Amino acid sequence: MLNKKEKIIKAINWNKIENSFTKLFWDQNIRQFWVDEEISLVEDRKHWDKLTKAEKDTYEKVLAGLTLLDTEQGGVGMPLILEKIDDLHIKAVFSFMGAMEQMHAKSYSTIFSTLSSSERINELFNWVENNKYLQYKVNKVDYYYRKINNQEELFFALTTSVLLETFLFYSGFFYPLWFSGQGKLVGSGEIINLIIRDESVHGTFVGLIAQKIFKKFDQSTKDKLTKKVYELMLDLYQNEIKYTKDLYNKVNLADEVIKFIQYNADKALMNFGFEPYFNVIDEDINPIILNGLDTETKTHDFFSTKGNGYIKPIIHDELSDEDFDDF
Ligand SMILES: [Fe+2]
Ligand SMILES: [Fe+2]
Repeated sequence: MLNKKEKIIKAINWNKIENSFTKLFWDQNIRQFWVDEEISLVEDRKHWDKLTKAEKDTYEKVLAGLTLLDTEQGGVGMPLILEKIDDLHIKAVFSFMGAMEQMHAKSYSTIFSTLSSSERINELFNWVENNKYLQYKVNKVDYYYRKINNQEELFFALTTSVLLETFLFYSGFFYPLWFSGQGKLVGSGEIINLIIRDESVHGTFVGLIAQKIFKKFDQSTKDKLTKKVYELMLDLYQNEIKYTKDLYNKVNLADEVIKFIQYNADKALMNFGFEPYFNVIDEDINPIILNGLDTETKTHDFFSTKGNGYIKPIIHDELSDEDFDDF
């Protein structure tokens, strides 16, 4: 008999899974597991010394900014969202994804320790705390992660998470891809590609869960939330433009980055079943960036299942409508 003050707390049963698609995402996440220290960065050091001061400054700052976003996602976003979800298997997938966010955050430090001095690393972390655009975006996201008291707020936190992972990271991802797409700083580019492949699966999974919650709302709630999501996206987009100009004007790439941001904002919207806003197509993206996104193993050479998950996530091919019937 339970004590009156106690409630039944359930154990996760992997032999009885409520929805089969969650197991697919668990498997995919596990298959993609990687460790930052497996990637060799020795060659990057040689290229690094040939970069201009402005190029080095932008490169280091985009990585520092990305560190902040992954720290937020691993330490706040995933744990607070999973706490509000009842399904134990979905919770398990979120926990694993949260652990990988910490791997992402750590991997930038591995790159820093190869390329930058300790003094410079300290300066960069100080810069993160004082950059108004970075702090604006992380505060926006943090606010919605901490405000989940009902299903509408849970939906909004899930869409915020997708906006972070499929949209806001890309002003930072652009620069490592720009170099690795030209055969430079390839080890760091490989790490970024592994992170992008993770974010692609995370954005798809979180987006699908958001869609399932959204379906259950009445039309007026749907309309209200849709308006609010686009408003948040555009608010964050305006901030991204300022952040991008601040970082990329000195290396003459701001316009290219903005196009890439728009492209990924559309991907984020589509992840939770909304219409794209900017309608940027693959052909609008600089081919160097698309080349940089090609993760056919360069320095990281185990398990053939670890191919590029960005342009066409593997998981999409394995899912059918029936997978969601019992959600
Ligand atoms: Fe991440
Ligand atoms: Fe993620």
